[in-house]
Amino acid sequence: MLSEQQVREVAEMYQGEVYGEAFYCALLPLFDAPVQKHLIGSLLQLETENKARMRQIVFEHGGDIVESEESRNQGRNFIRDVENMSWTEATAYMVVASVEFQDRYREIVKTAPDALKPVYNYMIEHEDLIIAAMRLASQGEDEKAIDLVADQLMLPLPRPAAA
Ligand SMILES: [Fe+2]
Repeated sequence: MLSEQQVREVAEMYQGEVYGEAFYCALLPLFDAPVQKHLIGSLLQLETENKARMRQIVFEHGGDIVESEESRNQGRNFIRDVENMSWTEATAYMVVASVEFQDRYREIVKTAPDALKPVYNYMIEHEDLIIAAMRLASQGEDEKAIDLVADQLMLPLPRPAAA
């Protein structure tokens, strides 16, 4: 059985995906190019799928699966940091933000019970994927970034039909 703190840590990762979803939803209206929308939409899809995965784990361990409004608001508020940036600047900035999330997860995994280590290592890899995709986008490689994310999705977003 997990300690109260360990249950809180699992729930924190779940809420991190709630934050991520709210962030990418708020980011979508800021960038208009089709590849930018496709990448942001794919990252939104990634957060949704990962949230569903984490929901199983949180529930299994008796944690709270209610999606917190506070996490959503924090995700939306993070937009203020990037709303006046170019795509290149914003994606580079998001690399740094994702590294911060990853550092926190690396901290949590140190004291995690063995049963949860694979889950937490998966979360660290999840941040690695976002970091790699944002880095590619910041280097002008949006298509490669989309492919990288889409490869990991159960439900990848199709390329929109040409108008
Ligand atoms: Fe995430």
